[in-house]
Amino acid sequence: MFRAQFGGEPQVTVQAPGRVNLIGEHTDYNDGFVFPMAIERSVMICGRRRKDNRLLMHQPAMAATEGATAEASLNRIEKDRERPWANYILGVARELLNLSCSICGAELTVAGTVPIASGLSSSAAIEVATATFFEALCGLKIAPKEVALLCQRAENQFVGVNCGIMDMFISKLGREGHALMIDCRSLEYTQVPFDDPAVTVVVADTGVRRGLVDSEYNTRRAECETGARLIGEALGRPVKALRDVSVAEFRRIEAEMHDPVRMRCRHVVTEDERVMQSVAALEAGDWKGFGRLLNDSHVSLRDDYEVSCDALNLITDLLRGERGAIGARMTGAGFGGCAIGVFRGLDEKAVQAMCGRVAARYRERTGIEPSLFPTRAAAGASAVET
Ligand code: GLA
Repeated sequence: MFRAQFGGEPQVTVQAPGRVNLIGEHTDYNDGFVFPMAIERSVMICGRRRKDNRLLMHQPAMAATEGATAEASLNRIEKDRERPWANYILGVARELLNLSCSICGAELTVAGTVPIASGLSSSAAIEVATATFFEALCGLKIAPKEVALLCQRAENQFVGVNCGIMDMFISKLGREGHALMIDCRSLEYTQVPFDDPAVTVVVADTGVRRGLVDSEYNTRRAECETGARLIGEALGRPVKALRDVSVAEFRRIEAEMHDPVRMRCRHVVTEDERVMQSVAALEAGDWKGFGRLLNDSHVSLRDDYEVSCDALNLITDLLRGERGAIGARMTGAGFGGCAIGVFRGLDEKAVQAMCGRVAARYRERTGIEPSLFPTRAAAGASAVET
């Protein structure tokens, strides 16, 4: 596609994966803990240097009429109102320039297999792919955590979505066969093996697009900040974020609080604990315990955090009802998008048959065509040999 668009060969090709979060939802912006893994779906960018300061971007998946090509100057980066997809690239280029990285003009093609707007972090994957592309093209040396942070700033400040650090972090630092337990305050992380050949993670895209997500996401963030302040007052000590509150402390003062802030806080405080328990369960080989925590997380997101929806509740129920199911939950921000189901003891054929059955039942009940696929824990972003 690069050759067809620009003629000649690209100099650099990179990939950055999408992600699912195993557990630890809506905790990252509360300085808490998350436990995502990179998936075998990724965004690829290939391109080459230009002698001038221009950036020519091509996204073949867009129809020409929707603006499959975009152009900008590195001398003055402005938001592209007509081609929103270009802003992920431009935002990252701007952050690199803000860090005084010497990046050059380039011609590049973006393509990939992460479905867009389904909650698998295609936007973080484009951002991380862009940073990784310029690292390789211009020989930059940036610590991987710094890359995750600059991509988050691009998303927060340039694209204008107020997300946490999880998606960029796992897309950059993911490791094959592992999930990452990330402390979103210190950015310390633990690589936890997640490669039991008997265990399969299935991603189930409800096909319901996340309409409310931006405004509801910001409302939840604000409720959490209010909650942290109120809990601090009740405990008589500073609480910087909900991460600083233990479940026992929360139980002590819960009666003094009011809904919905109390419900939001209950979710976050218990979810942080579930992340810790999940890691311990996996390390002990306790799949049943791990599955129970996934199910509990879903209930908490549904009833206390109120970010699930009928489609997610239905598809997680269907997944749980299948043979070999360990647990299932919505993953990502919610209001549609994807769920995950974790299964044990199914071979490839049985997994395919199960995906077909769940899809058929879901379609019957909703009239919507879902998409289900198994994935292993994949590696984070990298340059690709071509
Ligand atoms: C979205 C955001 C993440 C995180 C999740 C919820 O994916 O981009 O930062 O907050 O929602 O866990």
